[in-house]
Amino acid sequence: MDETVNVDLGSRAYDIRIGSGLLHRSGKEISALLSRPRVAVVSDENVAALHLDSLRQGLEKEGIEVVSLILPAGEATKGWPQFSRTVEWLLAQKIERRDIVVAFGGGVIGDLVGFAAAVLRRGIRFVQIPTTLLAQVDSSVGGKTGINAPQGKNLIGAFHQPSLVLADIDVLDTLAPRDFLAGYGEVMKYGALGDESYFRWLEQNGPAMAAGDKRLRAQAVKRACQMKADIVVRDETEQGDRALLNLGHTFGHALEAATGYGARLLHGEGVAIGCALAFELSARLGFCSQEDPSRLRAHLKDMHLKCDLSDIAGDLPDADGFMALMAQDKKVQDGEIRFVLARGIGEAFVTGDVPMHAVETLLMDALSRR
Ligand code: GLY
Repeated sequence: MDETVNVDLGSRAYDIRIGSGLLHRSGKEISALLSRPRVAVVSDENVAALHLDSLRQGLEKEGIEVVSLILPAGEATKGWPQFSRTVEWLLAQKIERRDIVVAFGGGVIGDLVGFAAAVLRRGIRFVQIPTTLLAQVDSSVGGKTGINAPQGKNLIGAFHQPSLVLADIDVLDTLAPRDFLAGYGEVMKYGALGDESYFRWLEQNGPAMAAGDKRLRAQAVKRACQMKADIVVRDETEQGDRALLNLGHTFGHALEAATGYGARLLHGEGVAIGCALAFELSARLGFCSQEDPSRLRAHLKDMHLKCDLSDIAGDLPDADGFMALMAQDKKVQDGEIRFVLARGIGEAFVTGDVPMHAVETLLMDALSRR
C-alpha cells in the first residue's frame, strides 16, 4: 500500500508517492501527466546499472517510449559540462514544452535534471524518482534545483517544483550501509528541528530501519516528507521558516568544504555532526539544557553515525579555518552568519545573533577532543 504526501502549492501542487514496487508501477503513475507517450529519463551509471531496466519496464508496459541519458556518478557531475550536455541532449531528443523529464537518481541527478527542466524551453515539467534515502527525504522535495560553481556548491540554480515524486522504498536495499546512514542524518534532522515525538520514534525504530525493515523505512520517509512539505508550503523560497531545514548545515557545509566534498565525509554525515554541534552551541548559549545535545549524540552513536569531529579521519583546519569556511556559506546575510539553534529537541529556530567567540570556543573544544 503506497503512502501519499501532497505538497499543496496551489496550481503547482504535487504528490509524493512512497511505497514498494513503485518503479514497476511508474508507467501508471506517470501516464496521467503525459500529453504523448514518451519520456526522457536522466540517470547516472550506478543507478542505471541497478535499476534502469525496472523503470524502463514499468514505463514501457503502459506503452510509454523511453529515451535515456546516463551521466557519470558523483558530485563532479553537478557542474556546467554535464549540465549543458543534458540540456543539449534533451533538445536533440526533441523534448517539447509539454513533455516530462524524469530525474532518476540521488541528489546530484535530481538537482541537475531539475535545473535543466527549469530552463529548457523556459521551463518544462519533471518527475523526481529519488534512489537514495537522502534524496527521498530531502533533495527531491521542495523544488530546489541547481549545480555547483567553482566558487561553491549549489550557487547556480532555480526553484522549480517537480510534478510528481516517486519514492520507491525497495531501491534503498541496494544502498551501501554508509550511504543509508548518511541519508539517515537528514531523517534525524527533521525530528531534531521540529518534532520531538518523531525523534523519539526514531530513537526506538532507527536501528531496525537501518537493518532493513521496509515498513519502518516507508513510515520514516513519509513523516520526513510530510514535515518538509509543510515547511515548503509555508515558505517556498526560503524567506523564513524553510531555513530551519538547514539545521546542522552551517557547520556541516564547512566540514564538507574542509574535507573536499568526498568520501572522507558524506553530506549527511556532515549534517549529523553539524546537528550535534548546533545543539551543543544552543546548550552553551543557554537556549536548551545539556541533556538535549547529549540525547542527540547518544542517538547518533546508537545508529553508528558520525557525531564528533574525532569521527573524521585525517587533518582538519583549526577553529579560525572553520570560521572562515562558515563565513562563505550562502546563508550569510549582510555579513552575519545565520545559525539554526534549538530550545530543545524539536524546537529549532533561526538566528543571526550568535556571538562568534562562542562558536570559536565550541570548535576549539571539539577539535581538542580529536
Ligand atoms: N535542503 C533544504 C531545503 O530544501 O530547503
